[in-house]
Amino acid sequence: MLGGQPIIILRENVERNRGLEAQRSNIAAAKAIASAVRTTLGPRGMDKMLVSGTGDVTITNDGATILSEIAVQHPGAKMVIEVARAQDEEVGDGTTTAVVLVGSLMEQSERLIVQKIHPTLIAQGYRMGMEKALAILDDLAITIDPYDRANLIRIADTAMTGKSIESVKGKLNGIVVDAVMTIAEQKDGSILADEDNILIKKQTGDTMDDAELVRGAVLDKTRFSDDMPRKVTNARVALVATQMEIKKTQVKAKIRISSRDQVSAFSAQEREALKKLADAVIDSGANVLLCQKSIADAVGYYLAKGGVLAVDDVPEKDMKFAALALNAEIVNKAEDLTSESLGVAELVEQPDDIEIIKISGCENPKAVTILLRGSTEYLLDELERAVVDGTRVVMDAMEDGKMLAGGGSVETELLMKIRDYAATVGGRVQLAIEAYAAAFEVIPQTLAENSGFNPLDKLVELKTAHAKGKKYAGLNVYNGKIIDMLKEGVVEPHRSKRQSIQSSAEAAILLIRVDDMMITQQKMPAGIPPL
Ligand SMILES: Nc1ncnc2c1ncn2[C@@H]1O[C@H](COP(=O)(O)OP(=O)(O)OP(=O)(O)O)[C@@H](O)[C@H]1O
Ligand SMILES: [Mg+2]
Repeated sequence: MLGGQPIIILRENVERNRGLEAQRSNIAAAKAIASAVRTTLGPRGMDKMLVSGTGDVTITNDGATILSEIAVQHPGAKMVIEVARAQDEEVGDGTTTAVVLVGSLMEQSERLIVQKIHPTLIAQGYRMGMEKALAILDDLAITIDPYDRANLIRIADTAMTGKSIESVKGKLNGIVVDAVMTIAEQKDGSILADEDNILIKKQTGDTMDDAELVRGAVLDKTRFSDDMPRKVTNARVALVATQMEIKKTQVKAKIRISSRDQVSAFSAQEREALKKLADAVIDSGANVLLCQKSIADAVGYYLAKGGVLAVDDVPEKDMKFAALALNAEIVNKAEDLTSESLGVAELVEQPDDIEIIKISGCENPKAVTILLRGSTEYLLDELERAVVDGTRVVMDAMEDGKMLAGGGSVETELLMKIRDYAATVGGRVQLAIEAYAAAFEVIPQTLAENSGFNPLDKLVELKTAHAKGKKYAGLNVYNGKIIDMLKEGVVEPHRSKRQSIQSSAEAAILLIRVDDMMITQQKMPAGIPPL
């Protein structure tokens, strides 16, 4: 009010939620999102079936996939989904954990708000708790040899469990680890593994057991003509960026053909030029040609005569991938080819039953292909998601050289140590740090619940083991026993837990501090939008 006149600062159609109401709304949203993915956590978690507006079906256990496909309007819910997206992008695994943690942190804050603890204090306690959690996590981290294959296989295995691919997990984790170890590069004392250098190709039809690691590239193409060989062993592959044709010159259009002699002379000249193009390939020593543009029929004819397997119109990104796999150089024109610019592969073939060109057995490839096979699209998609998670965690573990024990062991250690730390802080903020610690209970409890065990009993058993100094004690989800997760080989990269702890706390802090929600109603129905 100013001089008795009310000042209107919000447009008429703005819905506003203030104070407690706004907080409750965000808490409810976060809890709802967490509960949507909670049942998928762990090796014995269930899958979700998602049906899009157009009727497309996805069956998955992957947190990020579930959340990216469900449609929500609530701004708080959107923020939680963003946590999953960021986790997926940064780490590739641990999305369900991150989201379940946000839900639990918000649930704890609800209790504190009822006890009249100010949101600013809650936020402060959560931040202190998070910093402590990250320090404890660093202490718990186990340094690993980045090239210890057996260990990397365990890491891949943990990430791929529970994704309806159990029967082939044993084979896939080897493929995943070998793929990453092949493309990982050492640079200035550190290891770098680029996700883009592993291509995943899917093929319906065969069984999942037929999955294979191709030390090279697979192109969705067939050879230029049937006269060319289907199979070339000891392949020397040429990569050419421009078309294998001769330009129809301006001159040609203007030539006035007045005699038969002139016609045949001209076409002979043309033929010679076309043959020269094919000869440039053959003379370089190549027996396989990948051309990014078109190949003239006549050039194809001469290439086939020379025993060359040629492929035309190869997309640019496939050319680049093949160059990395083959350690070959993409030359601009065929005339630029030299034996040094070629790549070497044990075999280039167009298999009998499928329309692909497979380049395999490359020497020291910097890019490789994982070929997945399965009976249905649904299965293949879920297989791909598992393989993506697997490759990402192996990359994380190799790059950082650090891992942690799984099965709820880290969370139990965190919740106990952070509670001890809270006691040393004192004051009201202690309550918030204690609540932060308690939020971690949700992980071992959910793992127990999803495996058919009593969550409270298992939590108590875990706490007892940790109190005795067994810091790697976690839940065996198959028989309910509390065991040493490190000995069991249930291990995860350090980066995944670190990111889920950090992003869940940050999202919770942001949501708790909101005490006013203003939503313009132009596109939405009246009231705070539903989830
Ligand atoms: N064999 C196992 N025994 C006990 N716990 C396991 C085992 N394998 C995995 N876990 C635990 O399961 C949890 C991971 O489950 P899950 O892979 O479903 O979720 P996420 O990694 O958080 O999310 P997402 O994989 O969907 O991105 C981790 O806490 C991990 O330690
Ligand atoms: Mg996982």
